[in-house]
Amino acid sequence: MSIAIEAEGLVKRFGTTTALDGVDLSVPAGTILGVLGPNGAGKTTAVRVLATLLTPDAGYARVCGFDVVRSPAAVRSRIALTGQYASVDEDLSGTENLVMLARLLGFPRRDAKAAARDLLSRFALTDVAGRSVKTYSGGMRRRLDLAASLVGDPDVLYLDEPTTGLDPRSRGEVWDTIRGLVADGVTVLLTTQYLDEADQLADSIAVIDRGQLIATGTPDELKAQVGDQTIEVRPVDPGRLEEVAAIVASVTRVEPARDLARSLVTAPVVEPAMLADVVRRLDDAGIVPGELGLRRASLDEVFLTLTGHPAEEAA
Ligand SMILES: Nc1ncnc2c1ncn2[C@@H]1O[C@H](COP(=O)(O)OP(=O)(O)OP(=O)(O)O)[C@@H](O)[C@H]1O
Ligand SMILES: [Mg+2]
Repeated sequence: MSIAIEAEGLVKRFGTTTALDGVDLSVPAGTILGVLGPNGAGKTTAVRVLATLLTPDAGYARVCGFDVVRSPAAVRSRIALTGQYASVDEDLSGTENLVMLARLLGFPRRDAKAAARDLLSRFALTDVAGRSVKTYSGGMRRRLDLAASLVGDPDVLYLDEPTTGLDPRSRGEVWDTIRGLVADGVTVLLTTQYLDEADQLADSIAVIDRGQLIATGTPDELKAQVGDQTIEVRPVDPGRLEEVAAIVASVTRVEPARDLARSLVTAPVVEPAMLADVVRRLDDAGIVPGELGLRRASLDEVFLTLTGHPAEEAA
């Protein structure tokens, strides 16, 4: 499989801020890489470097085999970027926006109209094609944004937080759209602060924090790296939560998380046999579990284990 996006040792500084601090990436053609990180992690900076909008201070990146610094025009002709903030013209209709973009890319008028019609239908926007964009819902607008980025038929698509601010239904629609693009052979680099979004869409995930890659792998590999599973214990008597936490800590050798509202203790587990140990120790202590089991770790827990702080808190 050919590599569509390749970066090694990317560094980008803004004054005293090091936004990218030696980032390596490798994205096989036709796959989705999810770049996951909290506010200020360096996600947009990485996208802007890979889109030739910023010059790296060190390291290199190639997109479709072209160096972003030495051959920016060749890179630009193969990519499209949907930014964190919508880029379509509010006062124009969906059709007018897409026709205008196609004309800017040099399409003859008839072809521009045909391309606009095709894209609007593909993104389920035909019914609102003639309305001005300011009357669109957030989900419609985001879909038009995606449609706009496809006018030039890119090989590589950068989506910077494509679903931030959308309601669950619109997020689902955008996810379906992204899956459709990849099925058509487009390579996607998607940034997100949503752990479930990366889990849902990405073939592989790069977790970045403060400009550095702190983990890479498939969603499953990431989960395996920090304990594939999570043990959960809820004592019938909430007053014994701390005793449960101490038992779980001594078996898993990890400081467990305590959910006081649900009186639940959770910790990452590397060996399934640890569950039996916990059961035995609870029994010895005369603690009756109301709930006890193993489940797959969520990416939230992965992030917490990798960074030592919750994803939400880093902002
Ligand atoms: N043009 C700029 N000038 C100065 N500092 C910048 C500039 N762009 C980004 N930064 C800084 O670089 C760091 C990384 O920013 P970046 O926008 O890449 O983060 P992000 O991961 O996209 O965050 P968010 O999730 O909030 O979009 C931040 O500390 C930010 O303040
Ligand atoms: Mg950003």
